[in-house]
Amino acid sequence: MSLLLTGIAELVTNDRSVGDGSQLGLVRDAAVVVTDAAIAWIGPSSAAPPCDRRRDLGGRAVVPGFVDSHAHLVFAGERSAEFAARMAGVPYDGGGIATTVAATRAADDDELRRLLASRVAEMRAQGTTTVEVKSGYGLTVADEQRALRLAGEVTSETTYLGGHVVPPGVAREDYVALVTGEMLAACAPHARWIDVFCEPASPHAFTGEEAEAILLAGRGAGLGLRVHGNQLARGPGVALAVALGAASVDHCTHLARADVDALAGSATVATLLPGVEFSTRSPYPDARRLLDAGATLALATDCNPGTCFTTSMPFVIALAVRDLGMTPAEALWAATAGGARALCRDDVGVLRPGARADLTVLDAPNHVHLAYRCGVPLARALEL
Ligand code: NIG
Ligand code: FE
Repeated sequence: MSLLLTGIAELVTNDRSVGDGSQLGLVRDAAVVVTDAAIAWIGPSSAAPPCDRRRDLGGRAVVPGFVDSHAHLVFAGERSAEFAARMAGVPYDGGGIATTVAATRAADDDELRRLLASRVAEMRAQGTTTVEVKSGYGLTVADEQRALRLAGEVTSETTYLGGHVVPPGVAREDYVALVTGEMLAACAPHARWIDVFCEPASPHAFTGEEAEAILLAGRGAGLGLRVHGNQLARGPGVALAVALGAASVDHCTHLARADVDALAGSATVATLLPGVEFSTRSPYPDARRLLDAGATLALATDCNPGTCFTTSMPFVIALAVRDLGMTPAEALWAATAGGARALCRDDVGVLRPGARADLTVLDAPNHVHLAYRCGVPLARALEL
């Protein structure tokens, strides 16, 4: 069965070889043919081939589904009191993670499954069609493995984050040994990636040496590498990620010049999470400096109950445009193609024949409205 979509005022393909030749590859008055959940054809409406079915989108814009490459969705409980305290001046240091660990361990599988499904549905309703999901609120062998098993029910982009924080009451060396040993062995079969919270400025997170040991063990178990780095202060996270060839280093809020140069000269994506700075009332990362240096950027929500409890990529795009100095086109690219790069995927984040038909429709004539009409629910994933 083929489906012809017409009435697309502006189609964002992220393919420079079509349309206006810009980074977004804009095609005006476009049509798309979908067959078996894949894109079969893209072009001007006037040249659309005949299809089994036809749907008119009424002059709306269509963009690649958002690729949210950084999210912590397997958790129970919430931390609104911590957020309120932060808005009254209490700084964030990662200590609240223990609260979520306790609530998550206490929840049964069905409760976690229900919470996870509702968060993924909330994302889809706002245009996100690919999401990465991390563990990291279990911090025991059984609880981390459970989180990854549940995550694998909703996405192929599963990330083992046993190295989130050292759980209270456990000795640091013992915990690193567990994360790189028994816990890794139990989790690796359920994960595509390994991540670590490398942040010497936090008493709860991991130093550069500890993070390196965790990442090397993960690589040895066949996992791809991702890093939480340079969120709270300058530190070794970015340099480590680049040196080890990680797919992405996320946060990148406090960068030394050498970090910017390293990112610019590498394939490691710098994933910015401005919802975190919004929700922790912290200074924003310098996206302009990174872009001007030639680094590849992604934007993601970091959805989690501590530093940023939003599922909304349009909100993140609006923040990136308003507060990170990105243009609407740069922000949309980073939220789609950039996220795909951060996950080493070429079948999402771009609309071209052969790619997945992950289409997000905007109740607007063009992509600029995502930031221009901030806070208005314009984006939704198209159900085929
Ligand atoms: O990406 N920085 C570390 N981890 C999460 C926050 C987790 C939490 O506070 O619950 C983050 O910001
Ligand atoms: Fe995170």
